[in-house]
Amino acid sequence: MAELMKGMKRTGRLTDFSQDNIGEQVTVMGWVRKRRDLGGVIFIDLKDISGILQIVFKKELNEELFEKAETLRNEYVIAVKGLIIKRDEETINPNLTTGYIEVVASELRILSEAKTPPIDMEENSKTNELMRLKYRYLDLRRQTMQDILLLRHRIYKITRNFFDENGFYEIETPMLTKSTPEGARDYLVPSRVNQGTFYALPQSPQIFKQLLMLSGFDRYMQVVRCFRDEDLRANRQPEFTQIDLEMSFVDVDDVIEVNERYLKKLFKDTKNIDIALPIKRMTYKEAMERFGSDKPDTRFGIEIVDLSSAVKDCGFQVFTGAIKNGGSVRAINAKGCGKIFSRRDIDSLGDYTKLFGSKGMAWIQVEQDNLKSAITKFLSEEEIKTILDLMDAAPGDLICFIADADEKVFNILGTLRLEIARRTNLLDGNEEMNLLWVTEFPLLEYDEEQKRFSAKHHPFTSPMDEDLSLIDTDPGKVRAKAYDIVLNGEELGGGSIRIYDQEVQRKMFSLLGFTDEDAQERFGFLIDALKYGTPPHGGLAYGLDRLVMSLAGTDNIRDVIAFPKIQNASCPLSSAPSIVDKKQLDDLGIELKKD
Ligand code: AMO
Ligand code: AMP
Repeated sequence: MAELMKGMKRTGRLTDFSQDNIGEQVTVMGWVRKRRDLGGVIFIDLKDISGILQIVFKKELNEELFEKAETLRNEYVIAVKGLIIKRDEETINPNLTTGYIEVVASELRILSEAKTPPIDMEENSKTNELMRLKYRYLDLRRQTMQDILLLRHRIYKITRNFFDENGFYEIETPMLTKSTPEGARDYLVPSRVNQGTFYALPQSPQIFKQLLMLSGFDRYMQVVRCFRDEDLRANRQPEFTQIDLEMSFVDVDDVIEVNERYLKKLFKDTKNIDIALPIKRMTYKEAMERFGSDKPDTRFGIEIVDLSSAVKDCGFQVFTGAIKNGGSVRAINAKGCGKIFSRRDIDSLGDYTKLFGSKGMAWIQVEQDNLKSAITKFLSEEEIKTILDLMDAAPGDLICFIADADEKVFNILGTLRLEIARRTNLLDGNEEMNLLWVTEFPLLEYDEEQKRFSAKHHPFTSPMDEDLSLIDTDPGKVRAKAYDIVLNGEELGGGSIRIYDQEVQRKMFSLLGFTDEDAQERFGFLIDALKYGTPPHGGLAYGLDRLVMSLAGTDNIRDVIAFPKIQNASCPLSSAPSIVDKKQLDDLGIELKKD
């Protein structure tokens, strides 16, 4: 290598050169992406991290060099010395920064040969994702992938700069730690020195960042890896990155204010998108009632309407029964879908709702002078008229009804609404960035199976002052000082103001079913710390990977992570997780169950 590089000093990256450099001698290096032989001329697309530069070898200028160029194959790494010239008019490519120039080679060194790549290296690679992940180092040689990681790099920089300028200090928190309270399963690491004990990898730095507030670092931030052993989805990875923040002497509006300025800067500096401030806010209750989701996609309507009072005395037992059981009857109007959906399409929508637990989906297809429906026979003319009015129905519309317990109705109509948007390509070409704060989340969630409450956010989240008195009487109704930031129906981040009153914290633990001992065992170091002078504090964490996804315009989280894991939490490249030596297990005092 030393020999090969002798006398070869790279002048710059390939796209550092433009028409301004015509007439200059340069030394460039990179990967051969494409070779075209046109009789006595060979063109090479040379690729590096910055892009592509065209190299020309001409037989008439140097036959020996030309013959060497004929041996070049895709993905060879080469160094070329040559002269920058203007391209012939007909070969100009105005889409490339280097599209007006080329380098006429006077010297060529092959720094490294390459086997034929096992994956398609074109920008729109046709290779399946699993193969691309197995050969990730090649996949990452493609500009599309490189652009995303470079965007990610810029996001780190903008983020750190912004929070630094706003008085936040970046402080690292431990990776080998105790179980943290985010509700997923922990990844455990066995201790060799203390056999039989385990560290947990952090699900978030939650407890440590709160301790830092106690220590007086009144504004903290960290770009930090988090680990959660949960089922993977398109927007989840077992290890992912948070932009984690915490602030002292603040309430909800203070946290929101600084984050709005951050988001505005981030969207402007990466995508030149102007975010209007303040960002809209919606309470959890309103989000559920109108959109059936705590992360509503507000780029389109198809909002949920409560029809309970209109049908409470009707002749359709399914409706009246649901209401009598404390539930409701609600509907959405799929505008225009009555015209475009066939009977089969409508049945398939009904089947779709069953995946989310519906017992059925009643519907009315509105035609010019007629209604098609299996349920109108149970309704009076008056009732039908009220429904059509409430639903703002017009010929061509399709009204879909769900009757059940409120929570199920919201969930089912919320997913149905998204499915209808998908099936009608409602959002194709929509480039809106609809940011939304969802606020006033419930403090607790009732788990029917376990017959107990769990924390909706985490056990350190503060109740709203107005609802404090309900804690003893009707805990399920207590709202929290918790907020999520949502973008186009995706949760980008979430946070809360924390409990800093020991008495409230104790109550919270007891509502969650922790005995004093349990709480002490799990979070004792935080509970103790609260006794030594705690400032009011709160914060938020963004899923950085999700931010990058939105800004890069991809819906696959693996695209924004250099070396991601697949569905079964394994890494196709390194084959992690893997079996370990018996010796390693012995050192740890671990014996595997024979199975
Ligand atoms: P929360 O659990 O809501 O809050 O996480 C914050 C954000 O992290 C992202 N996220 C994930 N991204 C990718 N893969 C995952 N498996 C994954 N899990 C979560 C989401 C989410 O909004 N400590 C609190 C924050 C706080 O209260 O300050 C916390 O971790 O974008
Ligand atoms: P049935 O009389 O049971 O055949 O139901 C008539 C229509 O009501 C069918 O289209 C069912 O899919 C629908 N339906 C059944 N249960 C519900 C429900 N809980 N909510 C809304 N529609 C329902």
